[in-house]
Amino acid sequence: MSKPLLINGERLWNTLMEHGRIGGTAKGGVCRLALSELDGQGRDLFVHWCKEAGLEVRIDAIGNIFARREGTDPSRPVIAMGSHIDTQPTGGKFDGIYGVMAGLEVLRTLNDKGIQTKAPIEVIAWTNEEGSRFVPVMMGSGVFTGAFTLEHALAATDVDGLAVQDELRKIGYAGEVSPGQVPGGMFGAYFEAHIEQGPVLEAHELTIGVVPGALGQRWYDVVVTGQESHAGTTPMDLRHDALLAASRIVEKVNALGRHFAPYGRGTVGYMQVLPNSRNTIPGTVKFSVDIRALDDGDLLAMEADLKDFIAGLQKADARLQVDMKQVVYFPPCHFDEACIESVRAAAQALGLGHMDVVSGAGHDAVYVADVAPAGMIFVPCKDGISHNEAEDATPEHLAAGAHVLLNAVLKHAS
Ligand code: GLV
Ligand code: MN
Ligand code: MN
Ligand code: MN
Repeated sequence: MSKPLLINGERLWNTLMEHGRIGGTAKGGVCRLALSELDGQGRDLFVHWCKEAGLEVRIDAIGNIFARREGTDPSRPVIAMGSHIDTQPTGGKFDGIYGVMAGLEVLRTLNDKGIQTKAPIEVIAWTNEEGSRFVPVMMGSGVFTGAFTLEHALAATDVDGLAVQDELRKIGYAGEVSPGQVPGGMFGAYFEAHIEQGPVLEAHELTIGVVPGALGQRWYDVVVTGQESHAGTTPMDLRHDALLAASRIVEKVNALGRHFAPYGRGTVGYMQVLPNSRNTIPGTVKFSVDIRALDDGDLLAMEADLKDFIAGLQKADARLQVDMKQVVYFPPCHFDEACIESVRAAAQALGLGHMDVVSGAGHDAVYVADVAPAGMIFVPCKDGISHNEAEDATPEHLAAGAHVLLNAVLKHAS
């Protein structure tokens, strides 16, 4: 590789800080739920910056935003970069938006230096990566790659019954382009820069995570139905307490994650208790289950074990009903060898300390990997904390990840 080019780290930092005001919280985080008014504002600012940089913007029917810088050789497929603008309810200033703004910074840098690439290059903001307000998670990239249908995604509703279809229209991002259609053909390569969201790089005092792949995931919606009754008059052995059963399942999900260490994960993160009254035994509990593993077989074994456990609970109390519906599945992902090597080579050429880090989080790159060669770049985040308003990263690390992104992209686009 010739002498590596550098992005403008100060401009990247200022761009992130300015964008982070949209949905900024008192504790220094960001709440910009997918397809909310604030997500709309975040998108508008991104599109404004893309147009300012001379990029051609197109929007598809699930609201994914693509901004293209043309190349000189029309026969070359586009080299893409991207991530997401939406956040968790108590999200940080970097999860997602970093990959989008690092992509924009790469294109701004090419503009500054007057560099023409043979292949066109695009920066993408995928819709609803977080899956917090609407399931499925990684919705925009999932529709784009055909993991599920556009109709399925558009019909998804939030806890208030609002549908993706209507919320997309409200913020002005129900685009015309058919998802999966890319001018000139599918990406020649896709790179996503992201904060690590875990503690590994920080613990090793290294700057760049080369990401070989990501854990597979299965998510479920579970409804436990027991019987509402009086908290004072119903003897302990005559209860059908839905929350007690749900609590046992929460314990089990946690135990499953531990059993499949070091890469097993088991989380119940959302729960609704009905009627949610102090002196009524809960009759219905709705909650989410999120299990993850590095091996597809482990994921299946976790599911089978959970189903057995639930069958046991129902056997012990015939009045207890447990319905479990799978709402997300994707297998463990192995990124493209050439893309992984481009990331590693760029880090090396830049003199940045690096190591391989498997992603425990889902990312849009995981779905993109189904249709195009894909790779990811991680940078450290403070104390490994993410999905938390305290999420933090240094300007130096963020710039380093974007330097790597620039050089990996150039390798494929030159
Ligand atoms: C997405 O943020 C995930 O849950 O991995
Ligand atoms: Mn993310
Ligand atoms: Mn996230
Ligand atoms: Mn994520």
